Amino acid sequence: MLHTLWKETELQKETDISSWEIFHENSKTGHYDKGLPNEQVVREMNKRYDSFPYKQFSKIPLPETNAPFAKTLLDTIMSRKSPEEIKPTVLTLEQLKTILFCGYGITRDNKEHEYINRPFRTVPSGGALYPLELYFYSNEKVQDLKSGLYHYAPTENAIQLIRAGDFDHDLSEALVSFQSHIAQDTAILIFITAVFARSTFKYKEKGYRFALIEAGHVAQNINLAATSLNLGTLNIGGYHDRVIDQFLNIDGLHHSTIYMNAICKGN
Ligand SMILES: Cc1cc2nc3c(=O)[nH]c(=O)nc-3n(C[C@H](O)[C@H](O)[C@H](O)COP(=O)(O)O)c2cc1C
Repeated sequence: MLHTLWKETELQKETDISSWEIFHENSKTGHYDKGLPNEQVVREMNKRYDSFPYKQFSKIPLPETNAPFAKTLLDTIMSRKSPEEIKPTVLTLEQLKTILFCGYGITRDNKEHEYINRPFRTVPSGGALYPLELYFYSNEKVQDLKSGLYHYAPTENAIQLIRAGDFDHDLSEALVSFQSHIAQDTAILIFITAVFARSTFKYKEKGYRFALIEAGHVAQNINLAATSLNLGTLNIGGYHDRVIDQFLNIDGLHHSTIYMNAICKGN
C-alpha cells in the first residue's frame, strides 16, 4: 500500500525526453552564469552545519591512531574487488575509525583561506562545501560497540549511537531481494547521504552533480582503506531509497541516501 502511494508521488514526464537528459542539460555551467560573491557564499555556509550535531546523542570518541595498512597503494588498487560472498567479521574500533576517517575525515584546518570556513577533508569537494554525511549500522560486529545505527562526527573524531537495536530484518527489506542477506552478513553497512542545499545554494543544479561525484570519492577511499586492511568491501546501489531514508529518519528530498557500502571479511 505504502509503495503504491509513493509511486503516485513521482513527477510525471511532460515530454519524451528522459528526466536525466533534461537535468544534465539544465545543470551545465554556461559562460554567462554569474557565481555568488565570496562574502555571500561564506554567509550562506555559516547558516549550515559542517556536519549534523545530533546534540541529544553523546559522542563516543574514536581512537586517535589508524589501524596499520597491510598493502602498498598499488597493491591495494590492484587487489580491490567486490567480494563474491559477503562473510561476517568483527572490526576493531581502530579499523572502524580508519575506514570512516579515510572516507570523510578531517585532515587540515582552513585558517589560511579567507573564504573557506570549513576544515578540509580526505576527499576533494566542489567549493570545499562538504555536503555529505556518513552513517553506519553494525550488529555487534565492531568490538565494544552496541548494535544500532551510528552517525559519524568528523569534526570531533567521534561517533554517535542515534538508534540502538538489532535492525537486520528492517535492513534486509531495504535491500533489493537478491542481496537482502547482506544486512546480517556484513560487519558494517555504511550509508553516504547528501544534504543537497549545502552544495546547490552555490552551484544550483550542478551542485547536485557535485554531491554525487563527491560520494564517489568517499566510497573509493572507503574501498581502498578496507582493502588495505585486508577487509572485503562492496559498493551498493541496489537498495530501496525511500526505505533506507526512512530508516535513517531523513526526509529523502533535502537529505537523501545516495550510496551504500558493506564492509565484510576479506578474501
Ligand atoms: C554505483 C555502483 C553500484 C553498485 N551496486 C551494487 C549492488 O547493489 N550489489 C552488488 O553486488 N554490487 C554492486 N556494485 C558492484 C559492481 O557490481 C562491481 O563493482 C562490478 O561488477 C565490477 O567488479 P569489481 O568491483 O570486483 O571490480 C555496484 C558498483 C557501483 C559502482
